[in-house]
Amino acid sequence: MAPSRCHRLLLPTTMAPACLALVLVLLLALCAAPAPAHAARALTPGRAGAVTKAQQGGSNATAAAADEYLTPHNQARAAVGVPPLRWSADLASTAAAVVAQQQRQVGCAFVDMGGSPYGANQGWASYRARPAEVVASWVAQGRYYTHANNTCAPGQQCGTYTQVVWRRSAEVGCAQATCAAGATLTLCLYNPHGNVQGQSPY
Ligand SMILES: *[C@@H]1O[C@H](CO)[C@@H](O)[C@H](O)[C@H]1NC(C)=O
Ligand SMILES: *[C@@H]1O[C@H](CO)[C@@H](O)[C@H](O)[C@H]1NC(C)=O
Repeated sequence: MAPSRCHRLLLPTTMAPACLALVLVLLLALCAAPAPAHAARALTPGRAGAVTKAQQGGSNATAAAADEYLTPHNQARAAVGVPPLRWSADLASTAAAVVAQQQRQVGCAFVDMGGSPYGANQGWASYRARPAEVVASWVAQGRYYTHANNTCAPGQQCGTYTQVVWRRSAEVGCAQATCAAGATLTLCLYNPHGNVQGQSPY
């Protein structure tokens, strides 16, 4: 794909794999078509390929990366009166192993986390997205969420947002993989997991 065409795509998801296959087709179509102006900052759920980084570097680099993930999570939680998440090095290393495997085996496609005990938010970007930017794309789904009746606007996705603000989730760990073409796959794992059907996040 021509880098200029999908240069700024950022795709958040908590979707099930079956849905992702559909979105992948959509994404490829978007990338293949002449760049529509509105795709410049497209924020749709999707799937795609990527390679690894994130937990590299010394402890300072790791701490800085953790803050980049954690701070926007906890700002979004504070905004609705939910206590902060704490960083889990164990979840971060699990996430790092998962995205590394995605990179090696399936070109950084979104991960099927259906069998995981953890909550999982993912984001694929066609460029080297900063962690804070990816988390911001999850938080941005909150604009479609109505807490009063615990619903998401028709045709929208709110799952990455509701996981971010899920009160009973206590800890998070994240990692990112970088693909050959410069795309990134980002994964955050949450324990305990959120998005329990029929329950309100907070
Ligand atoms: C790295 O972290 C240590 C311990 O937190 C700190 O003392 C040191 O100043 C940091 N170094 C840099 C370059 O940030
Ligand atoms: C939930 O509340 C919003 C805002 O008042 C409203 O637009 C929406 O229709 C409601 N959804 C349901 C399912 O009641």
